[in-house]
Amino acid sequence: MTTTTEATRLAGAVGVAHTRVEGLDKVTGAARYAAEHHFTELAHGWMVLSTVARGRITAIDSAPVEAMPGVLAVLHHENAPHLAEASGFFGPDPTVQVLQNDRVPHVGWPVALVVAETPEQAREAAESLVVHYEQEPHDTVFRAGHPDTYTPGDDEDDSVEISKGDMEAELAASAVVVDEWYTTPEEHHNAMEPHGAIARWEDGRLEVIDTTQGAFATAQDLAALLSLDPSSVRVVSEHVGGGFGSKGLVRPHSVLAAMAATVVHRPVRVVMTRRQVFSLVGHRPATAQRMRLGAHADGRLRALDHQASSYTSRVMEYVESSAAISRVLYGADAHHTVNRVVPLDVPTPRWMRAPGEAPGSFAVESAMDELAERCGVDPVALRIRNEPAVGPVSGLPFSSRSTVACFEEGARRFGWAERDPRPAVRREGRWLLGTGVAAATYTAGVVPSTASVTAEAGGDFTVRITAADIGTGARTALVQIAADALEVPVDRIRMRIADSDFGQAMLAGGSTGTRSWAHAIVAAVAELRAVLVPGMEIPADGITVRGNSLDAVRGLAKLERHSFGAQFAEAAVDIATGEVRVRRMLGMFAAGRVVNPLTARSQLVGGMVWGLSMALHEEAHRDAASGGLVGGDLAGYHIAANADVPLIEADWVDEVDPHDPTGIKGLGEIGIVGAAAAVANAVWHATGVRHRQLPIRPDRVL
Ligand code: MOS
Repeated sequence: MTTTTEATRLAGAVGVAHTRVEGLDKVTGAARYAAEHHFTELAHGWMVLSTVARGRITAIDSAPVEAMPGVLAVLHHENAPHLAEASGFFGPDPTVQVLQNDRVPHVGWPVALVVAETPEQAREAAESLVVHYEQEPHDTVFRAGHPDTYTPGDDEDDSVEISKGDMEAELAASAVVVDEWYTTPEEHHNAMEPHGAIARWEDGRLEVIDTTQGAFATAQDLAALLSLDPSSVRVVSEHVGGGFGSKGLVRPHSVLAAMAATVVHRPVRVVMTRRQVFSLVGHRPATAQRMRLGAHADGRLRALDHQASSYTSRVMEYVESSAAISRVLYGADAHHTVNRVVPLDVPTPRWMRAPGEAPGSFAVESAMDELAERCGVDPVALRIRNEPAVGPVSGLPFSSRSTVACFEEGARRFGWAERDPRPAVRREGRWLLGTGVAAATYTAGVVPSTASVTAEAGGDFTVRITAADIGTGARTALVQIAADALEVPVDRIRMRIADSDFGQAMLAGGSTGTRSWAHAIVAAVAELRAVLVPGMEIPADGITVRGNSLDAVRGLAKLERHSFGAQFAEAAVDIATGEVRVRRMLGMFAAGRVVNPLTARSQLVGGMVWGLSMALHEEAHRDAASGGLVGGDLAGYHIAANADVPLIEADWVDEVDPHDPTGIKGLGEIGIVGAAAAVANAVWHATGVRHRQLPIRPDRVL
């Protein structure tokens, strides 16, 4: 190793396209997801979920099921191991307090686990289990102004209400006012790999192979729930087939697998069906958002009021922070944002790709488009005119903010200048054509993490960090980061991830994974440099040091840290059927240094596809009478298919975050942010009709 020089940095691996280091394993089938591992004596658990929306269990007829072929155990609230009401890694999580009492809080709540020799026997037995309920009246219907709505008062800063200035006075004095409601429906994520885990006891330790975005947090939570010493629980998640937030925390399948392994003294596998995923892993709640914008005649904002509400469950409070995005995007003399919730008898909503920003951007970026229309100002120019110099609410400087560069470069590539601002004037046969634009932003966070690095006798380096690669290419990005930190070629790095025994690290979430892990790897490499002496003999088992980014992260100045972007879309609307076809999308982003352009582009394009899907297709229907989902599966829940997805281009402007050792900001979530608004704004431009309710279904267009 030599001292880092600018030349070696520029010649390094970060910033260069690199195929996935585990790509060959994935395409040859050598890479295994959690539930694909095999153990002798492996038993299979099948969950039984409640069919009523509210009430209590009066009896479970387990005896006939226990006598069925292959059945090893039927766990339910009367015989299941006790779970501590533990404060987990992210606080107490009542959604995993399963089989602890007779209460049923929603349709799809786990009421039993049947364990059998084969999955088929477990399923047959689970479907034969008769559970008796005493039903109570339920309420599963979300609407704006529901009487049980309240403003949450916890200390999470994006859930509280923030006010600045005299809202009513500024609105009254405004030359132009937009005052509209925007709604988004209940939406679901359903990863390619359904949630599954295998739990087993091995030499006095609970070993769990799980599909999780955070093996360390999952291990901590399982230990707390089962009243075990944290050192006696190990969770690994080497390959994860998608997460999107749904695998951010310990979920019921892992808890049930651990309970069952304890009871039957065998390894136990529990895998959710697609339909079970729709109840048990969180989802995006429906939102209703009132936007009030007041502006000078030239479009400069005087007033911005973003009042969001969404539902939570009665199990725990989850706040979809839709209004938080308005605290970052635009300043105004009077500024008010609030996220309210209403508890319903429904499964608990949770993190789903860009929680808060995804639905919030639909409201604020649709309203900005309406403001542009009413002021007669170009939508791109309106946004540039309203660029804040500092955090609109915090007053803190931005670590960097390249929104204008994104809009200008995006507009140039998209051909925005040729756009006729008038709506409903471009026609091509039976299609009306329009273009739309929206801003994007997402928090660029960093969380203290640890890593170890070993200088091997043969000259290679092994890095160990409890990172997770949920399909994003994180493992490959970390190889590139480690190679540059160590100033060696990428093929000298062995990257070991996703094992809680490697120590505390941020989970793959909140667009903060790669950046947080990079901090820890850079810290570990610095420790190694302090230990290694040029020419020294490396012992056979190598030299291992640990690094911790805690001090580096704590020492970071307080700034507004976000990635930014500009989304452009062109839509065609069939005048006969109301069908909307998106013809092209372009996203220009500013997300700090991009570690691996290949996988970064995939991540951004994936988010944009999701935004298209959110704009046109996605909505879950909950039946008021039963409280259950209608079509809670991949047949009934519509998502964009390949035929719906046009040419999508994602790119970025040059930006290096000066406050990050690798220059990274993060780009996990920002691809979806603003994308639905850009499509909706394009539909308005095509037709002259505003769609403030998602999705923009053909029947709503006509
Ligand atoms: Mo993201 S919702 O933190 O996976």
